[in-house]
Formats: sequence, structure tokens, C-alpha cells
Amino acid sequence: MRKITPLNNGWVFLKADLSPEQAEAYREQGERVSLPHTWNALDGQDGGNNYHRGGCWYLRTLTAEELSGERVFLEFGAAAMSAEVRYNGELLCRHDGGYSAFRVELPKTGKTENLLAVAVSNEDNDRVYPQKADFTFYGGLPREARLIAVPETHFELVKDGTPGIKVTPVVDLENRSARVKVETWQTGGTVTFSLNGEEKRAASENGYAAADFTIENVRLWDGVNDPFLYTAKATLNSGDEISARFGCRVFGFDPGKGFFLNGRPYPLRGVSRHGDLKGKGNALSYEDHERDMAILRELGANTVRLAHYQHAQEFYDLCDENGIVVWAEIPYITMHMANGRENTLSQMRELITQCYNHPSIAVWGLSNEITAASAVTEDLLENHRALRDLCRRLDPTRKTTMANVFMLETDSPILDVPDVSSYNLYFGWYLGELSQNDEFFDDFHKKYPGRVVGFSEYGADANPAFHSSRPEKGDYTEEYQALYHEHMLDMIDARPYLWATHVWNLFDFAADGRDEGGKHGENQKGLVTIDRSLRKDAFYLYKAAWNKTEPFVHLCGKRYENRCEEETEIKIYSNQPEVTLYVDGTPVGTQAGRRVFRFRVPLLGEHLIRAEAGGVSDSMCIRRVQEPDGSYIFNKAAATVTNWFDADEFDPAFFSVQDTLGELRQHPQAGPIIETMMAKGAAERGDVADVVKDNPALQRMMGRMTMLSLLKQSGADEESIKQLNRVLQGIKK
Ligand code: GCU
Repeated sequence: MRKITPLNNGWVFLKADLSPEQAEAYREQGERVSLPHTWNALDGQDGGNNYHRGGCWYLRTLTAEELSGERVFLEFGAAAMSAEVRYNGELLCRHDGGYSAFRVELPKTGKTENLLAVAVSNEDNDRVYPQKADFTFYGGLPREARLIAVPETHFELVKDGTPGIKVTPVVDLENRSARVKVETWQTGGTVTFSLNGEEKRAASENGYAAADFTIENVRLWDGVNDPFLYTAKATLNSGDEISARFGCRVFGFDPGKGFFLNGRPYPLRGVSRHGDLKGKGNALSYEDHERDMAILRELGANTVRLAHYQHAQEFYDLCDENGIVVWAEIPYITMHMANGRENTLSQMRELITQCYNHPSIAVWGLSNEITAASAVTEDLLENHRALRDLCRRLDPTRKTTMANVFMLETDSPILDVPDVSSYNLYFGWYLGELSQNDEFFDDFHKKYPGRVVGFSEYGADANPAFHSSRPEKGDYTEEYQALYHEHMLDMIDARPYLWATHVWNLFDFAADGRDEGGKHGENQKGLVTIDRSLRKDAFYLYKAAWNKTEPFVHLCGKRYENRCEEETEIKIYSNQPEVTLYVDGTPVGTQAGRRVFRFRVPLLGEHLIRAEAGGVSDSMCIRRVQEPDGSYIFNKAAATVTNWFDADEFDPAFFSVQDTLGELRQHPQAGPIIETMMAKGAAERGDVADVVKDNPALQRMMGRMTMLSLLKQSGADEESIKQLNRVLQGIKK
């Protein structure tokens, strides 16, 4: 029998880059910690981009009792980002990659006490990914550790952190049957395979054994409708035993119709998730994963993109159990490194080897926005081809994909590498207008009707403390985020060929390099806050669209109590067909509709607002105030733009800052003025401007932006914008 000993307690942590000898010497001065642990739980979430990135040590004594067993292996769920394991001073192994498990055998020493010393580092380097991205690269041992004691003859444990067993179901939908191949790797002996009440034996040859089974009248793994799991077990005559859950399902991709599950259209509509939490960093417990899954289920999503790295096994397990289709990926992100190819391949090898049996996983993601800071060189292309070919070799049953940055030319050769592609678009947030998202996919689909395309990221930052009745791009209000997503949901509904769409992001997450939107160290594009305590209004929009089982009604703007207006909009999200609104207990109207219901009510004083639908209700309190509540406004300057101009400053017969860059550039008189201004701006921005200047796709996108939003984006002040507007108002269209 196999004996598992958790190894989470009794560790000493030294936050210093010491030599092995020094670490052993200073051991007593270390901090007592238990795993999972990260040393960036606080400094990686407070902004300033100054969290501790460097070498640290974890030390622990192992007792003879813990080490009992014929052969004993040490397993770490992860060590971020690189680790060296020493045992009584002897170096046992090195591991690069902060998100996958690895194991090493502990030699027999006959000693009563043995010292385990693990040097871990998340320092900058040019070979281990990630090195450049919009999230905190937590350092530590962020997952559980354990000892695995096995008989002399045992299943493989070390190679790429393998589970030792691989299950490949091939489903015949027509005959409702599945052929299941079960493969194991071991040191010798005879393997007894059992599955669905059947047993087969096979002798191990060259460390390998396999058996084929057929399941008649197979029960499919059918997404959220019925995520049925089977279990395959393998037992060695030595007594060592392993098992794997698996599911029988068929995934399909069609350029015109999108994603298919078990032969029927099944548009993947969901969110992305980073694996961190307020105050804990990425050292999450099983309960933390369970809570995240419960929130994802409440939303009604049927897919999750687990970004930008391999997540904890527990979360893939939860996706299998809940029928959530997964996009899994490695952290090959933002900037290509010439010395990083081996690391991308090893991280992908470990991801596939360790996660192959999860029925929920539909695609392997090769990279994310890798051309954001790198040109499409031959080395970059070769790295991607090598990754794709590795995926096809290790797992011919799944497709490969990539998440591309919105500036990437749609005829770029890199789009030919993966089987299916997706784009991250941020029109209506970082730049451009909301409608440019629609245009992008319409253009792409028209130009490449034979290509399968998806929407791997989209989102807008919102701080739930900020509010406005005239929400605008860039104001970080909860209202703008909700409007943004209302547009995106309609845009997506009208394009069922999008094989998958993933909101960036289900949760706010730590990005220590950020200090914006009234918060430090956080990306606030989440539908839920980083501590999981608050669901922003946009969360309920998606719940209204996707949750078909739990009747609910949600009043938007609960945190927008103080309103400086005579009449105000009451917006309601619900998955019910009809909503009734009450003001101070009096019904003021009933609306039939679909997910978004808008009412306007006069504001006289303090009012109790209640909404009812399908036997459920929600209520809030709002009040009329004489002066705008300043605490609701983040970007004071941006927030007043709309008030800068009087109506008469925009005579439509003449040009103005409300015209698009493209329109202005074309005009013989206005064009040169704009070019001079752009050249001046570019001179101030150095290489960023070069990237922009030399990128026809980005130029095209900017051409569709209004001068006003471009200038606001670039932080131009009121006077210079008004000055330009006066000049343009002098030029007749
Ligand atoms: C990118 C990137 C994400 C990042 C997001 C953002 O698209 O892939 O990692 O967090 O943009 O800027 O919010």
C-alpha cells in the first residue's frame, strides 16, 4: 500500500538569500511557518512594485517515523519560481517553474533526524517565465507538501511530476459507447487495471503497461448539465495502488458555429481566474478553492480560463466535478525570452503530464500576449511551434490555443501556429470605443471565415467606492463597468461563432505594479473583490444572463446612496421575465424584459427602493443631496471633462475634438494640425510611440477614436484640449 504523510507543519522560514551552510546555521532565527506559504502575501498586494523578489529558505527536520517505508518520495505542489532541494546538505534536485508539482526520492540515511533545506527564489532572470506581466509573481511554497512512501516496486513518481496513470477515453456518440485506454508507468511487476466493474492484467514491459476497456451505454461528462466521472484504478502486485477520475466527452470546434460538447453547440461563456486572495497571496486552502467555485457556479458560467499558469490540482478537480470547461495555460507571457524556450517546454510538459486526466480541460494555451513587448521573430515562432508539437505529441486528444494582444495583426504568421485562436480586446477601456469590439470580430470573421476565433479577455476596472450617473471610460466607477459589460454581453450574444469568451476577471487580483483607481497593487477588473466579500453590480448582469436555476433580482447602485440629481435611474438585473419597482412601499411600475430593467424615479429626499421579481426581492436606500459626493469620484480631472465644454462649443458644421482621429487626419486643413500634435506627443513617449507608430493595426484602431478620448487617455489637460477644440471649430467640415 502507498502511505501519504502531509508535510505542511514544522517549517522554518528564512527571508534571506543565504548559502546552504548559512541557512543551516541561522535556522533557529527563522520564522515558524506552515504550508501553503508565500513571503509576498502582503508586500505583493500593496502597490509600489517593490515586493520581495529574491532567494529565501524553508527548513524542516524529518523524523525516522515520517520516513518509514521502503522507498520515500518528497513532493511539493509548487515552489515559486525556482527551487533547490538539499537533504542533510546534499543537493537532491533543482526545479524551475513556480506553478507545477515536482517530486524527488529521499535516500535512506539510517539517521533518526534528517534536515530538509529548500532554497526558493522568485528573482528576476532571463530564462524562467513569467518575468513581465500584470500580476504579482508570488515567491514561496504556495501549495501543500507531502511524503509518499511506496514499496520497492511502485508506480512512477518523478518524471514531470506524473500521476503515473493516463486515461484516454474515445467516445462513439452514435453508439453511445466509449473505448478507454488506461496506461501506467512503473518500476516493474504486474498491473491489475479495474474500471467500471471490469478487471484486466498486464505485465510491465520497459516500465510501461496498458489495458483497453469498452464502456457500453456510456454516461457522458456533459458539462454543467451532468459532469459524470468514472474512476480507473491500477494495482501492482507489490501492493502499490493509484487511481484517476476521468470523463467521457467529445469537444468540437467550428469556425461558423463555435464550440461543441458531445455533438451539440455549447458556447463557452465564462470568466478568467487568477489563483490569489487578499492577505493570503497564492497560498490558498481547499476551502478557498471551493468558495471560488461556488461563486463561479452562482454566476452561471460554464467555463473558466485558469490564467496565466498551472493552477492547483484541487481547482481542476472542482471543475471536473462541476462540469466547468477549462482553458489551461503556461505563463509564457508578454515578452519572449531567447533563453526561455526550455522553460516553456518543461512547464508545458508538466502541465499536460499532471493535468491530462481532467475531463474539464478542453485546450492547452501556448502563450498570452507574447507579442505585447516582442516582435514576431523566427525564434518566437519556433518556440510556439515547438510547444504546439509537444502538446500534440503528449496529448493528441486536445486542441492548442493562444491569447493574442489586441494590437496583433490578424494576418500575423503566429496565428497559424495554434489550432484555434483567441484575442484579448480592451476597446472601451484602455482605448477606443465599445463598438470597436464588434467591428474587430466582424472584420476578423469576414476576412477569415474558416478560422475558429474566441474572446480570451475583456474587462474594465471598477472600484466599488466610485459612482457616477454619467459613467465614462476610465472613471473606475461601478456604473461604467456595468455599462461596459452590458455592451459586451450583447456583442457576444450576437456572435455565437465565438468558441469561448472569458471575462477578465472573476476576481480583482494582485498586481503590485499597479497604483490606480483608488487602490494600490490591485487589478480591479474583477466582478468580485479580491477578498471575495463584494460582488460588483456587473456580477449580477452575468448572473442574470447565465444563471438559469436560481431566481434573483438585483438593484444596481446600492453603494451609490447620495445622488445629486432631481430624478435618478434605478437599474435592476434579474433572470426573471418581469420586475416590479416600489418606492417607499408604493409600486411605481412593472416591466417585462430580459436581464436589464431601467426605471427613472424622482428624488425628493431619502427613499427606500425595493424590486420584486419571481417571488424574490431586493432593496436599498438612496437620498437626494445638494452637492455631488466627492468620495464617489476617482479621476477628478477626467470626471469633469464633460463639464468642460458648453454645448455651443461644438458646432457640428465644424470640426471638434469629438471627431475621430481618422476623420481629422484626412482633412487637408485639420490633418497637418493633428500630425504636428501627434509627432510632439510621440517625441515625449520614446519607444512606446515607436511600437504604436509602426503598428498598422493599432493605427487603424486609434483612427476610430475621438480626439477627446485620445487626449484624455494621454492625460492632456483641460486648457490644451479646449485650445485644440477652438482651432478645430474654425475649420468647416
Ligand atoms: C492583459 C493581460 C492580463 C492583464 C490585463 C489587464 O490583457 O493578459 O494579464 O491583467 O490585460 O490589463 O487588465
